[in-house]
Amino acid sequence: MQTAVSVQQLTVNYDKTPVLWDLHFSIPVGKLVGIIGPNGAGKSTLLKALLGIIKPLAGRIEFLGQPYKKVRKSIAYVPQRSAIDWDFPITVFDVVLMGRYSKSGLFRRMKKSDKEAVLRALTSVGLESFAHRQIGELSGGQQQRVFLARALLQEADIYLMDEPFAGVDMATEKVIVSIFDQLRAQGKSLFVVHHDLNSVEQYFDWVILLNTALIACGPVEEVFHKENLSKTYGGYFSFLEEAAKKAQKKNLGLS
Ligand SMILES: Nc1ncnc2c1ncn2[C@@H]1O[C@H](COP(=O)(O)OP(=O)(O)O)[C@@H](O)[C@H]1O
Ligand SMILES: [Mg+2]
Repeated sequence: MQTAVSVQQLTVNYDKTPVLWDLHFSIPVGKLVGIIGPNGAGKSTLLKALLGIIKPLAGRIEFLGQPYKKVRKSIAYVPQRSAIDWDFPITVFDVVLMGRYSKSGLFRRMKKSDKEAVLRALTSVGLESFAHRQIGELSGGQQQRVFLARALLQEADIYLMDEPFAGVDMATEKVIVSIFDQLRAQGKSLFVVHHDLNSVEQYFDWVILLNTALIACGPVEEVFHKENLSKTYGGYFSFLEEAAKKAQKKNLGLS
């Protein structure tokens, strides 16, 4: 089977501190992959290293058997919402249109087909009536959907998304899940940084468990278990479990 992403010996430092340490993994195409780990584990850094935004100290990264430069146009990135300057004066329409430019070059005139494609993508995330709003005026969930629409327009083969579910409303969560389903049905590969352990089994086929080092990588049913989670979250995972048990007891009226 063809490999979507293969990583060998990937090490990334900020100054002298290693943030990713000697990662090796390889993931077949067509999987919905959750990237899971505590705060500061290096999840966002991993996406940035894959995209060449950060230069690794060492390592080899290939997408579909090729270096990033060769397949750049087949890769779409949805950054973490908090990493974006929302005061930048730009309309929703123009943000989404940028997804189109990556295929056709920035200085080309917009065609009727571009406009239609933007409106189609906005409709698929339920924002067709927001096209001419300034991006900064939207709610967090709506902003997240705008960036999904932009990624959809890129018609990529591989999607990298950084915490798309963070701080979004229920309507947005549903839109995101339905887009995952659509993309998966088209055989696309998705890599999604995710922090809610409760929904991992529901959303993802594969997981990468990360905490500076790679703890595990594989199908959810094989590697997403207590032992690996303890390794990934350390003492904090026992704390989460305890908290979940207590909450459950409370709901049952036991305490
Ligand atoms: N630009 C940067 N300069 C220095 N340190 C950074 C930078 N970005 C992230 N870090 C540090 O690298 C570690 C991993 O960060 P990050 O990849 O954002 O983690 P995650 O996304 O898993 O929360 C953290 O300790 C963070 O403080
Ligand atoms: Mg992050």
